[in-house]
Amino acid sequence: MTPRPPRAVPRTIREMRLARPRHRHVGAKSSGNPLREGLRLERVPDPCALVLFGATGDLAHRKVVPALYQLWRTHLLPHEFVLLAFGRRPYTDDAFRDELHAALVTYSRVQPIDERAWRQFSERIIYQRGDFDDPASYDALAARLDTLDRERGTSGNRLFYLATQPSAFAEIIAQLGRVGLDHEVHGAGWRRIIIEKPFGRDLDSAIRLNREVGKVFRERQVYRIDHYLGKETVRNLLVFRFGNGIFEPIWNRRYVDHVQITVAESIGVENRGQFYEETGASRDVLQNHLLQLLSLVAMEPPTAFEADALRNEKVKVLGAIAEMSPAEVGRNVVRGQYGPGWVAAEEVRGYRQEPEVDPESETETFVAAKLEVDDWRWAGVPFYLRTGKRLPKRATEIAIQFKAVPHRLFRDAHSDPEPNLLAIRVQPDEGILLRFSSKVPGLGLDIRPVNMDFTYGSSFNVDSPDAYETLILDALLGDQSLFTRADEVEKAWGIVTPIIDAWVAQRRPPPFPNYEAGSWGPAEADELIGRDGRRWRRI
Ligand SMILES: NC(=O)c1ccc[n+]([C@@H]2O[C@H](COP(=O)([O-])OP(=O)(O)OC[C@H]3O[C@@H](n4cnc5c(N)ncnc54)[C@H](OP(=O)(O)O)[C@@H]3O)[C@@H](O)[C@H]2O)c1
Repeated sequence: MTPRPPRAVPRTIREMRLARPRHRHVGAKSSGNPLREGLRLERVPDPCALVLFGATGDLAHRKVVPALYQLWRTHLLPHEFVLLAFGRRPYTDDAFRDELHAALVTYSRVQPIDERAWRQFSERIIYQRGDFDDPASYDALAARLDTLDRERGTSGNRLFYLATQPSAFAEIIAQLGRVGLDHEVHGAGWRRIIIEKPFGRDLDSAIRLNREVGKVFRERQVYRIDHYLGKETVRNLLVFRFGNGIFEPIWNRRYVDHVQITVAESIGVENRGQFYEETGASRDVLQNHLLQLLSLVAMEPPTAFEADALRNEKVKVLGAIAEMSPAEVGRNVVRGQYGPGWVAAEEVRGYRQEPEVDPESETETFVAAKLEVDDWRWAGVPFYLRTGKRLPKRATEIAIQFKAVPHRLFRDAHSDPEPNLLAIRVQPDEGILLRFSSKVPGLGLDIRPVNMDFTYGSSFNVDSPDAYETLILDALLGDQSLFTRADEVEKAWGIVTPIIDAWVAQRRPPPFPNYEAGSWGPAEADELIGRDGRRWRRI
């Protein structure tokens, strides 16, 4: 095993807390000293081992390990931390560390790499060879974790991270149960598990997977990831709504005309054609990110800022969205697939020409839907959602469109005041914009909309942490607020599965491709919202 650093470094968590600044870094361009960066008071997690299944995979290299390095660099991981990388390839510890270092050089959001912090962090990375399907690998894993408790002081606390293909989730969970790695014996450490998305591919498979998870882990040990919930702007949505007195009174059917939520991507399927063929936009984005954003916008104020109080309210919102009949799917949902076109001045191929994609594929790369949250607050207010690939730009935005003023007072003005708009930009260029009408200076009466614009970058002058940093730290701290609960994931599938089923049953699918790469989707999406006398916001 790698020798410990000299004893000047504090060893117990108590010493750590006394010695290390107990701050959570929310900035980036920095020296690694959190006192000089954006700060927030925060706890440091308990000593623990994080077991990363799928450690040699894409997500581990691009997101999970850079996030852990960043947490370490900013003093947010305990001294007694071990990253136990579980993989089937024959790496030595050193060879695997070198590979992760190269990944950091490419993917870390803070460059250049702080080599001193990396050296300390890399001493905590251990490679454990094993195969998901091999029971002996889990016996060896359990024994290794016990040894690490003794040698590295990880105190029996374990976070399992399933960064693997979803088809492996059930097997890994069952094997962890078989060797007792789920057991929390009082005082002998906590056991938690992070499960990557997608969680199921329809309602039945999500229920089945929840059942498999529930055979081994209790719900309070389970952290289902939707990384959108870790984004700074999404978390700020709660502060915006419930930390300010002026918005909540107008956040309802009396004042809101409709809501639009857009998750637009300019990229195509890149090298993930095979994955996307089995997924499509409704499974990849509508079921999780879009419905999560919708539930945060539409939920009632929770009674406490605490995981279950919050998730109870989100579940109620999803429960208030009625399951659509096939006829309603035909009226309220539009799907699309991109053909060749131009994005950002670059000529790009169509979806059917992408590698690993069936040349006659009927997978949707775009979906737009009109949903109604049938409760006291929102009855009659449509929520228009849309997502797609190869749209003109990458942008995620929630737009609350308010109603027009009830009385036409300025009859002599050149034009009527436009209704107010509140746009919450989730990415990029994170911020919040409020649009209101103003008189144009001059002797006549001319009214034009103006913007009050808050951007994170200029207001706080620090970069936001990556969503994975936030979420992994929360899981290490035992905070489930930003993770999806079993019932929540099933409710979301309960909305999306009838849509997918109706498409499968449809005898005449739309003539794909039906939108050009670089456009805002098929004409039918404009008709969907246009029928109600509205139009999509130009982002
Ligand atoms: N990549 C992303 O951008 C992204 C974004 C959001 C969510 N996710 C989710 O994250 C998860 C992982 O995605 P990914 O893109 O990282 O997939 P990936 O690159 O295919 O990684 C899969 C990992 O599992 C390992 N593995 C597969 N079978 C194994 C076995 N029998 N025994 C031991 N190891 C095995 C692979 O090892 P080998 O290297 O030996 O093949 C690899 O490390 C998926 O659920 C995905 O939906 C990914």
